[in-house]
Amino acid sequence: MRMIGDVKIGPVGLGAMPLSIEGRPDEARAVATIHAAVEAGVTLIDTADSYHWHAGEAGHNERLIARALSAYGGAEVLVATKGGRGRPGDGSWTVNGDPRHLRGACEASLRRLGVEAIGLYQLHKPDPAVPFADSVGALRDLLDEGKIRMAGISNVGADQIREAAGVLGGRLASAQNRFSPAVREAADTLAVCADLGVAFLPWSPLGGISLSALDTLDGTPLTTRGTLDGAPPSTRDTLDGAPPSTRDTLDGAPPSTRDTLDGTPLTTRDTLDGAPAHTPRRPFQVFHEIAAERGVSPQRVCLAWHLALGPHVIPIPGATRPATIRDSAAAGALTLTADELARLDLSPGA
Ligand SMILES: NC(=O)c1ccc[n+]([C@@H]2O[C@H](COP(=O)([O-])OP(=O)(O)OC[C@H]3O[C@@H](n4cnc5c(N)ncnc54)[C@H](OP(=O)(O)O)[C@@H]3O)[C@@H](O)[C@H]2O)c1
Repeated sequence: MRMIGDVKIGPVGLGAMPLSIEGRPDEARAVATIHAAVEAGVTLIDTADSYHWHAGEAGHNERLIARALSAYGGAEVLVATKGGRGRPGDGSWTVNGDPRHLRGACEASLRRLGVEAIGLYQLHKPDPAVPFADSVGALRDLLDEGKIRMAGISNVGADQIREAAGVLGGRLASAQNRFSPAVREAADTLAVCADLGVAFLPWSPLGGISLSALDTLDGTPLTTRGTLDGAPPSTRDTLDGAPPSTRDTLDGAPPSTRDTLDGTPLTTRDTLDGAPAHTPRRPFQVFHEIAAERGVSPQRVCLAWHLALGPHVIPIPGATRPATIRDSAAAGALTLTADELARLDLSPGA
C-alpha cells in the first residue's frame, strides 16, 4: 500500500481521462473498466471536471465515475478530481486559476460526485494570469471549510511544489506531473515530493510505451487494432489532440528520431528482432526484453519501474478496457530485481 496524505492507496491508480475524451468508449464499456479497476484493487481514480469531449458536457468523467461507483456499491475509492481547466469543445484546453472560478468548479464537482467533501482536489494547471499563491490559496480555503479533504497540484515545477506546501501550511498531499521512461523532465519534482512527504502521481505514466508495443494484450498488432469506437489509435488518447507520433517525447520530436533511454541514437541501435530501428517501440527495448523474460506486458514492467522510483510514487495509467487496467493493476505485485532496474536505467533523468 502507498499513502496520499493519511489515506492508504493501492500502488496503481486508474487515470479515467480516456473514458470521456475523444475516442471514448460507450458507457457500458467505461463502467466495466472502472469496475474491473476496483476488482483489481485500484483505490485511486484520477479525474477532472474538464475530462470531456464536447462543449457543454463539463464533468462527464466525474458523473461517469459517480455512476459506476454507485452501481458497484461499497467500493473504497479515493476519487481525485481537478479544477482550473476547461474544454470549449474544439479540442483545445483552457486554463483558469482564478480563486472564484476554482471555488465554483469545486462546488460543481462536489454535486456531480455526490459527496460532502472531495477526497483529493487538485489545481489542474497553474494559470499564468493568476498568482500561483492565489490559486493555491483557494484550495487552502476549501480545505479549511471542509469541502475538500486533501489538496494537490498538477503540471508544476519544483519551486511551485515548495510554494504550495507553504501556502497550504504543510498540507500539500500530492503533485501530479507528466513522467514516464521517455519523458523525465519532471524528475526533479519527483525528488522534491520525496523530500516533502508528498505523493507523486505520474500522468501518462506509460508515456507512449503502450503505443510502442507492437502487440496488444490479446496479441493483435496495435497498428491494425481499432479502438472501441472505431477511431484509429492515432487520433485518440492524447492530451491535446496531437497524434501519438508527435507526443510523449522530451522535445516534441517524433519517436522515430529521438534518442533512446540510454542516450544511444535510435537509428544506430539494433532491435530485438531485427525490425527496422524506426519502429515506435524501439526506445523501450529493455522493457520489452524484461517483459518477455517475466511473461508479462511491457506496460506492467513500465509501471513496476515507476513504483521502484520511490514509495511516494503512484502511477495513474489510463484505460478504456477492463483488460488493460487489470494488467496495469497487477504491476503492484511485480517487484523488479536490482539487476532488472539497472538494465531499465532506474535513475530518473539519467
Ligand atoms: N494532470 C494532467 O494535466 C494530466 C494530463 C494527461 C493525463 N492525466 C491523467 O493521467 C492518466 C493517464 O494518462 P494517459 O491516459 O494520457 O496515458 P497512459 O496512461 O500513458 O496511456 C494510456 C493508454 O495506455 C493503454 N494501456 C494502459 N494500460 C495498459 C496495459 N497494461 N497494457 C496495454 N496498454 C495499456 C491504454 O489502452 P486502452 O485504451 O486500450 O485501455 C491507453 O490507451 C489520464 O487518464 C489522466 O487521468 C493528467
